Amino acid sequence: MFPKDGKIKDVTTPRIASEVWHNGEFIPWDSARVHVMSHVLHYGSSVFEGIRCYKTRRGPAIFRLTEHMQRLLNSAKIYRMNHEWTRDQLYAASVELVRRSGLEQCYLRPIIFRSLDEANPAFGVNPFPNPLACYIGAWDWGKYLGDEALEQGVDVQVSTWNRLTPNSMPAMAKSGANYMNSQLIKMEALLNGFAEGIALDDRGFVSEGSGENIFLVHEGRVITPPLSSSILPGITRDSVVEICRELGIPVEEKSIQRAALYVSDELFFTGTAAEVTPIRSVDRITVGTGRRGEITARIQKLFFEITSGEREAPGPWLTYVNEQQPAEASKNGHSPTARVTEQPSEEPAVSYQTVAAE
Ligand SMILES: Cc1ncc(COP(=O)(O)O)c(C=O)c1O
Repeated sequence: MFPKDGKIKDVTTPRIASEVWHNGEFIPWDSARVHVMSHVLHYGSSVFEGIRCYKTRRGPAIFRLTEHMQRLLNSAKIYRMNHEWTRDQLYAASVELVRRSGLEQCYLRPIIFRSLDEANPAFGVNPFPNPLACYIGAWDWGKYLGDEALEQGVDVQVSTWNRLTPNSMPAMAKSGANYMNSQLIKMEALLNGFAEGIALDDRGFVSEGSGENIFLVHEGRVITPPLSSSILPGITRDSVVEICRELGIPVEEKSIQRAALYVSDELFFTGTAAEVTPIRSVDRITVGTGRRGEITARIQKLFFEITSGEREAPGPWLTYVNEQQPAEASKNGHSPTARVTEQPSEEPAVSYQTVAAE
């Protein structure tokens, strides 16, 4: 039932930033603690983001930071989290955190959650009495689906677990609670000897992986499920759609049947953690040639050229940490060293898709 040694190999974490941003200030890693009776621990009341910062010749560069922070605020709004953190402030805090960490590349984890007011504790489901907290941590992370996955591809299964229904848990909010569903999918896949599981939506159409969006290639066309298949509006997904446009590859959002996975020419996952990872088999059925397909390879190449800063992105996708001008990153001005430029308010509107299309 459980892995024999109690553990399945996980992603490596070579380094962790020694400070964490908390409600406007930088605090030591060891001080970033919550009370065990916090609302979030009992009722899953958190929303979060996963953001990558890439190593480039111009120093660390955060990928699509504005879009990630906008999605965080959208998730918080869906869950009626009334707070005063702004996109600009969280943007500036992330830049400063990377700068202070000294990491050349990392993964950033902003989180907003319902905590505990110890002077006036509240323990019920009703979240409103519980104060909100916001933290951002950072660490260097290895390859999410294994070192060879990006080149060799991964073996996956279709999960027996369905993805969330739109009117139960909204998949378009990146909430901590959604990841209980993801954990069921992931654990089942790992225990069955697969790298990842693909969940179907409640109608039986392909939705997404436990932590990735999915793309299919058929006769030179790239197809991905629409938001109405209970997927997270992935920012890597959006980037890949833009990259396909640059490459002149037709791309469509369409409902996908499970069987179409087996007979596709190529399949791949996208995600901040997984980046662009080919899928070489589904349910032990070989996909295409059983290796990274030609279109996947072209998309992946462009993606990594953009994220490494070697090629210009279709939009302002990279924030070069060392090139930001000093400005105020802290909430209340306490931290004199927490200073980076906030994005100008004329920043282009966030473009990635957030409403369902089909
Ligand atoms: C369930 C799920 N779907 C899709 C994605 C991919 O989204 P993104 O590309 O924004 O990381 C993620 C990763 O965050 C995820 O957890």
